[in-house]
Order: sequence, then structure tokens, then C-alpha cells
Amino acid sequence: MSIALIILAAGKGTRMKSDLPKVLHEIAGAPMLVHAMKSGATLEPEKTIVVAGHGAEHVSKASAGYDETAEVVLQTEQLGTAHAVGQAKDTLAGFAGDALVLYGDTPFISPETLSRMIDARAGHDVIVLGFEAADPGRYGRLLMQGDSLSKIVEFKDATDEERAITLCNSGVICAKSDVLFDLIDAVGNDNASGEYYLTDIVEIAQQKGLSATSVTCDESETLGVNSRVQLAEADAIFQTKARHALMESGVTLHAPDTVYLSHDTHIGPDTIVEPNVVFGPAVTIENGAHIRAFSHLEGCHVSRGAVVGPYARLRPGAELAEFTKVGNFVEIKNAVIDENAKVNHLTYVGDAHVGARANIGAGTATCNYDGVMKHHTEIGADSFIGSGTLLVAPVSVGSNAMTGSGSVITQSVPDDALAIGRARQANKPGLAVKLFDMLKKKKLDKQKGEA
Ligand code: UD1
Ligand code: CA
Repeated sequence: MSIALIILAAGKGTRMKSDLPKVLHEIAGAPMLVHAMKSGATLEPEKTIVVAGHGAEHVSKASAGYDETAEVVLQTEQLGTAHAVGQAKDTLAGFAGDALVLYGDTPFISPETLSRMIDARAGHDVIVLGFEAADPGRYGRLLMQGDSLSKIVEFKDATDEERAITLCNSGVICAKSDVLFDLIDAVGNDNASGEYYLTDIVEIAQQKGLSATSVTCDESETLGVNSRVQLAEADAIFQTKARHALMESGVTLHAPDTVYLSHDTHIGPDTIVEPNVVFGPAVTIENGAHIRAFSHLEGCHVSRGAVVGPYARLRPGAELAEFTKVGNFVEIKNAVIDENAKVNHLTYVGDAHVGARANIGAGTATCNYDGVMKHHTEIGADSFIGSGTLLVAPVSVGSNAMTGSGSVITQSVPDDALAIGRARQANKPGLAVKLFDMLKKKKLDKQKGEA
């Protein structure tokens, strides 16, 4: 059975107190919308439709950033969840499969839960994802009669008896696409909020002789985000799960609670991650690497056996080959470091290639930016860059070459050559003592003058 996803993402999210539409607030480096899309994508949907309203332009961009085939439809006025789903009707005209409705602000519904819903469709026309709520609060309540879901009642419209029900509506709903839109066409807005409730389709389905039931999942999956506090809670839940999964897969985390992961962090077995390491998006670490404390990584790849940090910063395009060493207060950006090369202390390597076994001395900087454009630095294999070398790009240092400490390298250095680019030193015998005497006298005179 082919599937279409309809992801509701038109709401403003007033309680976020933000210019950014709610679904674009990030959890583990990805917008909530992308988390929902990712989970839905595991069903290999034939179509994905995002219903956007507030900040639609930004929502479109985020949607395309994850899946450029996803279609965005506009809901200019937010008249309720049924109305929102209704906006996908034209796009799905003639679509013969099932439609699954997800919320962009409910990021954790698991792929396993979604596929259980799809399976349940074999026996029923409408499937609603429910959960037992510890505190049912203002959620819609599911009214079950045996195996059959007879109605969903919104909190605002519920009787005291109905409010006592703890089986709640997650909002995720699945039905055959054309059936779903027929049901939605029959939804009115005669209720406490004056909104078109998607939840009304259950009772309408029953009236039409169709069957509805609920599939349930753990409450942790249905967590919705309405405020910054809930955003932080959701992030914490994500982190706990992701750290756990990493450790189960063979990664050592020395102080797991202090390691921050992104939605797409990949770390191979036998890698050790020390405390207080931040993984921004798009980081892959191979097996047996060692990421030492207080390092910050994003958009980079670290190969087997490499050692990073403590206090290293790997920025997008940093590519570390096997057994490389990148030490403290070193920043690497858009640069390939070949195997066994060492960049151990206080160094900036940007827009560069460092050859195998090269040794980059402390305080080296690639001067890659002239204020307008970026330029490349090439450092050859087995070369030795003396401490405090400034490499003014574009420039290259050959293999087996050396630069003297403190050199400013503005011209390319041939293979095997030693380049020294610094002022010649001059020693003045006895001058230090004279200078000290002069300065001490000056200080004394000044103190006398002040007294
Ligand atoms: C909805 C359900 C409720 C369920 C709860 C779970 C209805 C009527 N109620 O209530 O039973 O327990 O979710 O969280 O469906 N949206 C649009 N356009 C609209 C309205 C909403 O895109 O016109 C989007 C929102 O951005 C949000 C989602 O739909 O992502 C849910 O809307 P929201 O207003 O939060 O619904 P609830 O009142 O929480
Ligand atoms: Ca809500």
C-alpha cells in the first residue's frame, strides 16, 4: 500500500514567544519538522505534504532542505486541524493509498509505531494513535467501545466523565486518502473553539458505517512542544536516548550527560568520547577514535584512530585521516589532514591540505582570507612547519620541506627546502643592563614627582 504523509506545520506557536515558526525550533540540531519528516520517511511514502502557514517561506525552505520532493501547501488561516489537513486535498486528488497525518511539533513518534498503525489499517478504516497519559491535561480523549474507537472528544467540549478518561489523542491519524478527505468535508465547526476539528472524523466515520480503532504508544513518543521549556525537555529526552544508543553500539562516553549529540551524529564502536564534547550536525567519527574533553565538532569526518582535543574545534569540511592528531586550541575548517599528520597546539588550519606525517608547530596559522576571498594552502607530506609560521595563502609548502619558526611564508616553498621568512636577529652586547638602569631611574623619578 502506498502512503502519503501530511505534516501539519501551520501553527504559530504563540507560547514559544518567537519570530521563528514553532516547527523550526531545533532539537539536536534539526528543526522539529525535520524530526517528524524523518520518522515518516521510514515508511517510504510516495508523497510528503507539509501544511504551512505562519512563516511558510521558512518552513518551505526547511522542508526542502530535508526532502526536496516534499510539497508544501499553504493554510493561510488556521481554522483547525481538519481544515489544515483539507489543504492537502487537491495535491492528493486521485491518490489511491493511505494518508498519514503527523504534527510538525510532535517530533518523536517512532517508525515502529507508525508501521504498527499502517498494519492496523488492514482491519479498520480509521486509525488514531493514542497514549495513556500520566496527566491527561487538555488532550483530546479517546472513547473506546471494546476494540472500536467511537469518538474523540476535545477537552474543552468534554463532560467531567469524559475528562476522567486517560487514553488520549496524539493527533496522528491514518486512513485511506480519499476516505479521509470525504470525512473532512463533513466536519463542521460547531464546538467550544469554533474550529474544524480533525478529531471529529472518527464519529463521522462511525455514522457512515466505517470502523475506527486506536493503536497506542508510549507517552514519551507523543510529546508535543509548545514552549521553550518543553523544547528543552524534548531535547533532553532525545539526548538521553541517543547517548544510550551510542553506548549500546560500542562507544564509550566518559560522562554521557555532558556530551551533546545531533540528530545525525554517527560514531563508530570503540571510539572514546570524553566529557563536555559538543557534536553539531553532520559529524561522522569512525571506529577507535578518541575525542577528548571540551571539543566542538560540526560538519566533519574523523577517521579511525585519530585523536582530537582536548579543546579542539573541527568546523565544516574538516576531514581527518587515520591516526591524525589535532590537539588543544586548534581550529580546522575546510581542510583535509592526511594520515599520521599532527596539528597539536594553538593553530588555525583553514582551506588547506596537510600531507601525511606533516608536523604543524604551535601557533601556526593559514592566512586564508584576504578580506574578500578565501585562498588555499597546500602543505606537503613529511613537512615540518615551525612554530608560529604564518602561511599567507594562496601558498604551498612542498614535501619534506621546513619553515623556520616565526616565518611569514608568502612564496611557495619547494620540496626538501627550508624557508625562513623573518627579520634577522641582532644582539647588542651590554645594552640590556643599560636599558634596565634607564627604565628603573625613570620609574623612581616618576614616583618622586607624585609624592
Ligand atoms: C490536537 C487535537 C487533540 C490532541 C492534541 C495532541 C484536534 C482538534 N485536537 O489539539 O485531540 O490531543 O492535538 O497534541 O485535532 N495546526 C495547523 N493548522 C491549524 C491548526 C493546527 O497546522 O489550523 C497544526 C499546529 O501547528 C500543530 C497541530 O496542527 O502542529 C496541532 O494543533 P494544535 O492547535 O496544537 O492542536 P491541539 O489543540 O493541541
Ligand atoms: Ca498542541
